[in-house]
Amino acid sequence: SQHLLSIRDLDADTLKRLVADGQAFAKQGPTHRQDLLQGQTIAMLFYEPSTRTRCSFELAARRLGADVLNLDMQSSSSRKGETVADTVATLAAMGVRLFVMRHEERAAIDAAARALPDGCHLLNAGAGTRDHPTQILLDLLTLAREGHDIQRLDLSIIGDLRHSRVVNSWLQAIEHLGCHRLRLGAPGVFRPETVPPEATLSDTLADSIQGAQVIMALRIQQERLTKGTTGENELFHEHWGLNEARIAEWAPQAQIMHPGPMNRGVEIDSALADGPRSLILKQVENGVPARMAALAWLFSGDKQR
Ligand code: CP
Repeated sequence: SQHLLSIRDLDADTLKRLVADGQAFAKQGPTHRQDLLQGQTIAMLFYEPSTRTRCSFELAARRLGADVLNLDMQSSSSRKGETVADTVATLAAMGVRLFVMRHEERAAIDAAARALPDGCHLLNAGAGTRDHPTQILLDLLTLAREGHDIQRLDLSIIGDLRHSRVVNSWLQAIEHLGCHRLRLGAPGVFRPETVPPEATLSDTLADSIQGAQVIMALRIQQERLTKGTTGENELFHEHWGLNEARIAEWAPQAQIMHPGPMNRGVEIDSALADGPRSLILKQVENGVPARMAALAWLFSGDKQR
């Protein structure tokens, strides 16, 4: 069966096709309905919290005509110790054919994929600090709709890079697609363990964003910091927090992205997040058509077989 567990499951042509499909779905608008996935049942299994990903997948599935089963993991039999493998096999026996799953462990998502019978698909909706492939699809769709060509783009990604599945998946996408200039910027405990050859790592905000066309701020992931780490938010805000004055000085043309949820007043100030440079709600809007493209692509392989 075809799954989407990581950006590495997609080659460059498929990645481009999914962005093009997302553009077509976006053009149809939020009131358009179609029956591409009529008769299919899609289950949402979110073992970690989510607002954007979960809701946009549900809307995407409904706009394609699918039925959606939303599991509340807090009241499901996983609380009695049922494994992810048994959970997905149980739902597959009821006729669910696609699973959208978020979990803090990538190993749990891999275990679910192994437990699925033939003909079922698994889509990773966020795995701990490892992968978030559809976030990158919606980010690429947002950039494309803004007229940016990734191969010509001067992009900076700033924030908690150590714990970010978004930056990991972005780096995989850039391996495929290339990027004119990619700078990563983070201090101390937020620096990534490795930096691939496609990117450079800067240790001041000014070096990280000077002249950038697009700056992506990432959330400080308090829940993944080692217990006992204190004062990191305040230090980050003081030296690395994005605000209009800093952007106006160092990157006056820049547009601002953030996958959300935001820590307002930590990695980004409200005036910037809500101001004219911000693409943040456009990213949210594009989450629905980008996920429609991903769902339709996973099922399209069934017809070819
Ligand atoms: N960007 C993102 O994954 O947001 P949620 O955690 O709200 O789904």
